[in-house]
Amino acid sequence: MTLPNKGQDQTEVKKKTPQDFIFGKVIGEGSFSTVYLAKDVQTNMEFAIKILEKTHIIREKKTEYVMREKEVLRILGSSCRYFVHLYSTFQDVERLYFVLSYAKNGELLKHIILHKKFSFDCTRYYAAELVLALEYLNSKNIVHRDLKPENILFDNNFHILITDFGSAKIEKKSEIQANGDTDHSVQGPRRRRNSFVGTAQFVSPEMLQESKSSFASDLWALGCIVYQMASGKMPFTGGSEYLIFQKIIKLEYQFPEDFDDTIKDFVEKLLVLEPNRRLGASDSIPYTSLRAHKMFEGINWNDLGPPPKLSSDTSTLIKSQDSSPDISENLEPGLDNQKVSRLVLKDMLPEVIDAKSKTERKKSEANRKITEVSQEELEKRLQAQRSNPFSVFVEGNLILKQGLIDKKKGLFPRRRMFLLTLGPHLYYADPVTMTFKGEVPFSADLRTEAKNFKTFFIHTPNRKYYLEDPEGYALEWCNAIDQVKEHYFPSGQVPKENSIQ
Ligand code: ADE
Repeated sequence: MTLPNKGQDQTEVKKKTPQDFIFGKVIGEGSFSTVYLAKDVQTNMEFAIKILEKTHIIREKKTEYVMREKEVLRILGSSCRYFVHLYSTFQDVERLYFVLSYAKNGELLKHIILHKKFSFDCTRYYAAELVLALEYLNSKNIVHRDLKPENILFDNNFHILITDFGSAKIEKKSEIQANGDTDHSVQGPRRRRNSFVGTAQFVSPEMLQESKSSFASDLWALGCIVYQMASGKMPFTGGSEYLIFQKIIKLEYQFPEDFDDTIKDFVEKLLVLEPNRRLGASDSIPYTSLRAHKMFEGINWNDLGPPPKLSSDTSTLIKSQDSSPDISENLEPGLDNQKVSRLVLKDMLPEVIDAKSKTERKKSEANRKITEVSQEELEKRLQAQRSNPFSVFVEGNLILKQGLIDKKKGLFPRRRMFLLTLGPHLYYADPVTMTFKGEVPFSADLRTEAKNFKTFFIHTPNRKYYLEDPEGYALEWCNAIDQVKEHYFPSGQVPKENSIQ
């Protein structure tokens, strides 16, 4: 498999190789890629390197998405500051590498969660950056089609950097005139084994009903994102994808009582079922009516200035996350054995490494507790779990969440696969020797404590467990463990009958 090398790559003097970079921590994980923070050995510049396993891409028939992403990033170039920039691509026998701008401050989603919701000033500032980004996309005839707070990153100055163009579409002129097309070759959002890879909540009604997408589909997503920034919640939620889709196509959503009236008006003008009627969709000069909305009164569109402060009260949490080294001093250039095995393991067993993100995605999609599992779903998931090599350690219990955690005992941390299951149990096993190592005993007295994004503790009556999630999902682990505890020991009362199993 080779990627066509056009445009900027032709100007490259010499193709890079993995040996030109020191690879640090994992900063992003998709179904088909892993993103590493990496430092150019020669220049010391930091990049986000997206690595894709060729066999995995070919087996899952995703070549087209990969090509598309590269082509779109090439078209976008470097003249708009609101998009990740593709510096170069290279490949070896097994993998493709995309060298991208590193967004130091992570996902917009993380910041919405941290701050619960954004102030009026922050919401309108980032809405304005998104409007400018959408104008640029429109000028390049590109529809993103998967805009959501996970795909909007923050650079070191807290400006947005939109990423993930695997679902994007390059509009042909004739289709633009027809105002929307039915693209049966790549229907709407990406699917994998008949389920959405992206988050269902941001999909526009026309993509759901007619597999039709246009620039107006990104305007719908803008409405959802602005709603979420202003309220901390998504406009369309439900117990399943089906229920969410029903709400989207019926435009069934409400605003919280304290939602700002001006932002509400903006959102209402974007969340319109008929794509052409969305604010900005039919402007002769694209998006002039978005710029003219009263929410943006006083904004200097030629220079938005620096972003308003999100708030200072969470700075300690962000700082403490950054205290551990992103790229350790003693690393050698290239991918070491551990990183190669991670990529290979992900290719062989996407379920294993994806399990965490899947559980989280499902939970947030459905806004439900991870312990809420119907009998039918339980049976299906137990069946699917059989192909998970770690299922041998869980005594037939349903795995709710799993992931690699560094467990500290004495001086040395040991990497363990942690398996949170119904029962309740929190097992851990050695992923290298595939041996069972132990279990954190659940009781009404168990308590979790997140120190920062990576480090968390589990307090039990007889022991305090020191744990570190190298990927920075400590808060999610605590939340999941708390949910399981609350299910079986509601508010620390008498143990509940095992209602699920
Ligand atoms: N996660 C995925 N892509 C990223 C990027 N370019 N920068 C930082 N984190 C990322």
